[in-house]
Amino acid sequence: MPEQLETHPEGRTHVAAAALPVVLIPGDGIGPEITTCVRDILEAAGAPLAWQVHPAGLCCTDQVPSGLPKTTMAAIAEHCVALKGPTETPSGSGHKSVNVTIRKGLELYANIRPVRSLPGVETPYGNIDLVLVRENIEDTYGGIEHFQTPDVAQCLKVITRPGTLAACRRAFNLARDQGRKRVTCVHKANIHKLTDGLFLECFREVAAQFPDITADDILVDNLCMQLVRKPSQFDVLMLPNLYGDIVSDLCAGLVGGLGVAPSGNIGDRIAVFEAVHGSAPDIAGKGVANPTALLLAAIQMLRHLGLLLTADRIERALDAVLAAGIRTRDLGGTAGSAEFTKAMIAALPARAESDALPTLPEDPSVLRATGSAGGTRIETIGLDVFVEHGDLATVPPVPQAAGRMRLSMISNRGTKVYPGPLPDIRMVNWYRCRYVADGPVQDSEIMALLESVSHACTWVHIERLRTQEGKALYSKAQGE
Ligand code: NAI
Repeated sequence: MPEQLETHPEGRTHVAAAALPVVLIPGDGIGPEITTCVRDILEAAGAPLAWQVHPAGLCCTDQVPSGLPKTTMAAIAEHCVALKGPTETPSGSGHKSVNVTIRKGLELYANIRPVRSLPGVETPYGNIDLVLVRENIEDTYGGIEHFQTPDVAQCLKVITRPGTLAACRRAFNLARDQGRKRVTCVHKANIHKLTDGLFLECFREVAAQFPDITADDILVDNLCMQLVRKPSQFDVLMLPNLYGDIVSDLCAGLVGGLGVAPSGNIGDRIAVFEAVHGSAPDIAGKGVANPTALLLAAIQMLRHLGLLLTADRIERALDAVLAAGIRTRDLGGTAGSAEFTKAMIAALPARAESDALPTLPEDPSVLRATGSAGGTRIETIGLDVFVEHGDLATVPPVPQAAGRMRLSMISNRGTKVYPGPLPDIRMVNWYRCRYVADGPVQDSEIMALLESVSHACTWVHIERLRTQEGKALYSKAQGE
């Protein structure tokens, strides 16, 4: 197929090519119904896509217990772009979520959710047009959880420099591409000083490379309050995984709920687009499902592929259909999925010749993250030893010292309980005993300390206390 150059009104350059292969996953429940609607609309709009249909979800757990055939993963990896219907994860069955496997297995590190008010979808919040970018892999979603004692469960919140830099670059690039003016980092660095502190530091590092875009930050609690008071004040929001998960659903609620919330899971090379909602088993097969969220995800996908004009036309048709009152039941209307789809196809504006022209892909090397500079002096100067101790009226009888390391503090649920009087707090049978030396210690000294502690109590977990150029790489306890 010959290639030709074309320029979008916003000034981006396109290269026309053969139909682009896109993996289509119908999924479970209402998935097959709504993917058919969306496919029909995109085909009627002349989007030059070659659909590669592959299964995933409950529908194929008979053949593959994971619900995700290797051939489906391979197809996504080969063709780089997928439109995915919702897949069902049976609760308590031990099945891993197909979504999480796709996201993590393909390093789709940024979840991008456009949040836009739609005509005819009444909300009390006025006109909203913002984009939420959520880091998609890290934070507490590593799923590193342990019971420390039968009464104490722990989840590791892991924020990394390369992961955060990559997600933040994605947010700033998106802002620049979409002509947006401001990116706001959402965090809780006043409490999570090291983890959210690192997230904020990386955000600021990336922001410095985008002087044309205003960068600021806000605490996640204040953000929630501001969002329900005046959401139109925000442009692009950049969040760590957990806050992003919660706030993105809040944002979906601001513009009409799950039926109109799309999302894209984006990596350096691969992107998977889907509706935020699930497989809606309660309405599956009834012909009443709302295809809008998946259609909005498909519009996002077309833009990702550079098919900007086709995306614009479908978006205009959607606005017209909703404004004309053709809405599915979940939005207060009476239309079924088929009626909605028919109205969408009828409302598509005529196709201009230059419509179906994809943009050149972004150079992924620009997004490649690096670790921190080597050569900095990192030393272990002590150890936090977490021990189980059932007598809540006394601190555990651990040794005061071992070799050069001295017991400097014991805490319970993050509050210092030694030295000094026991504070009046609810205690649990899990204590952190902090041992610190005046200078660097060897592993052999750590082993000797653990040996000595194990004579007094059961230790269940340890953390090295490390410094970098003299700066502590660990937090203090409340009251330490
Ligand atoms: P759900 O989003 O499927 O349904 C919640 C409510 O919203 C239901 O009343 C449903 O009828 C309604 N609803 C959802 N989408 C709709 C649409 N397009 N049109 C009209 N009404 C719609 O959430 P639920 O019930 O918690 O989950 C059902 C299954 O979906 C579970 O197995 C879950 O694991 C899976 N799920 C899959 C997701 C994905 O693949 N991305 C995301 C969320 C859930």
